[in-house]
Amino acid sequence: MERGRRNLLITGGAGFIGSNFANYWYNRYPEDKLVILDALTYAGNLNNLSLILNDSRVVFVKGNICDAPLVSKILQEYDIEIIAHFAAESHVDRSILAPGTFIQTNVVGTFTLLDCFRHHWEKQGKPPHFRFLHVSTDEVYGSLEIGDPPFTENTAYAPNSPYSASKAGSDHLVRAYYKTYQLPTIITNCSNNYGPYHFPEKLIPLMCINILLGKPLPIYGKGENIRDWLYVEDHCRALDLVIHKGKPGDRYNIGGGNEVRNIDLVRLICKIMDEIAPNLPVKPSERLITFVKDRPGHDFRYAMDSSKIQRELGWQPLESLESGLKATLQWYIDNPQWWQPLLSKEYQEYYRQVYQMV
Ligand code: NAD
Ligand code: TYD
Repeated sequence: MERGRRNLLITGGAGFIGSNFANYWYNRYPEDKLVILDALTYAGNLNNLSLILNDSRVVFVKGNICDAPLVSKILQEYDIEIIAHFAAESHVDRSILAPGTFIQTNVVGTFTLLDCFRHHWEKQGKPPHFRFLHVSTDEVYGSLEIGDPPFTENTAYAPNSPYSASKAGSDHLVRAYYKTYQLPTIITNCSNNYGPYHFPEKLIPLMCINILLGKPLPIYGKGENIRDWLYVEDHCRALDLVIHKGKPGDRYNIGGGNEVRNIDLVRLICKIMDEIAPNLPVKPSERLITFVKDRPGHDFRYAMDSSKIQRELGWQPLESLESGLKATLQWYIDNPQWWQPLLSKEYQEYYRQVYQMV
């Protein structure tokens, strides 16, 4: 793709990965204009964008991706050429408690964006450099056993949770808009991300914050489930390459190459926290580990084969699990003013429900 000043729409840009991506793109491409559309659900937080929001290159719109007139207006008013689509309901545990919003945002919302973007692209004469980047997950591929080969781009979809099923539905729509209308869409499926601005109910920030507060570290089942962890900035660099060099109509798997059992990951977090966090209320923090009832339908193992993006686009993750974790945990230790306000009444109520459910 040619460089020059471009206008991007980043949906879900106040969430975890979307805000890391917005901050990354803002610094990497100082010419470009960023329009961020986010409904500011429990997971959206304007503090994630505090370093860039005051610049005239950045526009924030509070709104819903299911709102077609609003989306069309934004596309037209800001002459959008690229959509980086992150907005979603993203937490498996919440999808078990209340699946409805997952269908609405992930399926209907993605359809709305696709359809508005198609009309906008057609009105402009179908410019070939327009892009619709759909950020999806490895969870659409289902679950692996020990010894199974990692997921490739050709693995059949087999989603197991309402979350992954809703993301699978949205992926199919994105694919169909390429096949049917030749809209230049690309899908990325990535593994579990971690890093700064990660909402405190996901595994890594939850463990870190509970260690700082001296609270139990709840591990589902025996902690034997395996995830493949990817540092969020490595993910942003991969998305940058996909936008610039990826082939429309294609999909790319993005994994960290860091498969680890939950229990081993939590022990590593405890070890690093014991080393770097001052004045912990309980030490060694491993004493806080508490095994709780397993999540219903808990996928056993995810593992990604990232050889396509490595071979075709030259991507490599830069962080090891240990270096990425150290940087992340240090960020949470240094930024209590970011996470403390998020431990709200609503959060406590969610916490109560989820650990009762599992
Ligand atoms: P997140 O939950 O932290 O952020 C989602 C953002 O979307 C929030 O800011 C929220 O306010 C916004 N949003 C939700 N519903 C909306 C709506 N209807 N309209 C507009 N905005 C809305 O999620 P995340 O972890 O940053 O994930 C971003 C994307 O990456 C998602 O599509 C997710 O499926 C995908 N993904 C995440 C991971 C991960 O490990 N976090 C892994 C693979 C894929
Ligand atoms: P999570 O961060 O919710 O991501 P996902 O379910 O999308 O992979 O969880 C990561 C892993 O950690 C998953 O196997 C579930 C497990 N887990 C726990 O054992 N305890 C917890 O409190 C949480 C939130 C997750």
